[in-house]
Amino acid sequence: MNTAKDTILKVDNLKLQFSSNGQTLNALNGISFSIRRGETFGFVGESGCGKSTTSRAILRLLADNAKITDGTIYYNETDLLKLSEKDLRKIRGKEIGMIFQDPMTALNPVLTIRKQIFEQLRDTKLSSKEKEIVAIEIMNKVGIPLPEKRLNEYIFQYSGGMRQRAMIAITLAGNPKLLIADEPTTALDVTIQDQIIKLLNHVKEDFGVSILLITHDLGVVGRMCDRVAVMYAGYIVEMADTYTLFSAPRHPYTKGLMDALPKLPQEQTRNEEMKPIPGALPSLSDLPQGCPFVSRCQLHQTLCQDQLPTMQEISPGHFARCHYFHKLEGCTGLINCTKG
Ligand SMILES: Nc1ncnc2c1ncn2[C@@H]1O[C@H](COP(=O)(O)OP(=O)(O)OP(=O)(O)O)[C@@H](O)[C@H]1O
Ligand SMILES: [Mg+2]
Repeated sequence: MNTAKDTILKVDNLKLQFSSNGQTLNALNGISFSIRRGETFGFVGESGCGKSTTSRAILRLLADNAKITDGTIYYNETDLLKLSEKDLRKIRGKEIGMIFQDPMTALNPVLTIRKQIFEQLRDTKLSSKEKEIVAIEIMNKVGIPLPEKRLNEYIFQYSGGMRQRAMIAITLAGNPKLLIADEPTTALDVTIQDQIIKLLNHVKEDFGVSILLITHDLGVVGRMCDRVAVMYAGYIVEMADTYTLFSAPRHPYTKGLMDALPKLPQEQTRNEEMKPIPGALPSLSDLPQGCPFVSRCQLHQTLCQDQLPTMQEISPGHFARCHYFHKLEGCTGLINCTKG
């Protein structure tokens, strides 16, 4: 049983709407999950399902047209949704750090990397000399060669993979306990992607952080995540430890994602994008009253059109939101999971 003590983040029944062109988009429809200390928790799902919105809601880094309409987000004992903007600033970057797909937009282009690391250390009692030592140490730990020289440079002077390392270094300088990584490897080529995955796995151990990893790539999930939530149309439709999810998917959407992946090892090395499941996400302004996946689901029955399935615990820690999950009993998914 997961006690509050070993949980760093607990999100309960989170609902969020965007108003757009006079319409209400139901982007998050009751998201519940928790992240344990020291684990990497993954969010996976196709574009537009609400992964980034969930992560941005945690730090309330939301667009003006977004409104959280229900739910709680606890970071340790603190309900983040009740914090003032001023108190939230003490959490952002310091307790919870965030890294993104594109360091060029996430980092300040007119400040050197040193300045940005020092900025993260501003509330410490360290002297400039000590800050310099810390900065060099962090640069070394994230694998940036010649740190003394490279600290003087600007982000545009770094190459793709090094930019990602610099963003990770700056974020880690704030000494966060939870790292939110939104598609950190998506824009990178395969070799660099591999290096950044290894770096993040290493960082988790070395800095003792928990990671919330957002990706649309099941391969990345398999290499990084201890547990994973599969999202669809603003719902979590399946959640389990990675090994269980990969070996015994019990939601037809998860199964569909896996079936769409290349199967042969030589195909997998081509690192193909996930092939879409036929059909499209339902409109968030007009979600079906039943299961959000009904129009694309091969298992659907009348009940699925009428009634939204609840999240059911199929086995300890394995949840699926499907009336007919038992029809997938005995079905296996992917086996190339290096976690668990
Ligand atoms: N400011 C906004 N105003 C209106 N709709 C928005 C806004 N931001 C996001 N959305 C919509 O909310 C839904 C969820 O978006 P989100 O960015 O969270 O998806 P995602 O899962 O991160 O997708 P991707 O894999 O493409 O990054 C999408 O339909 C998106 O178009
Ligand atoms: Mg996103």
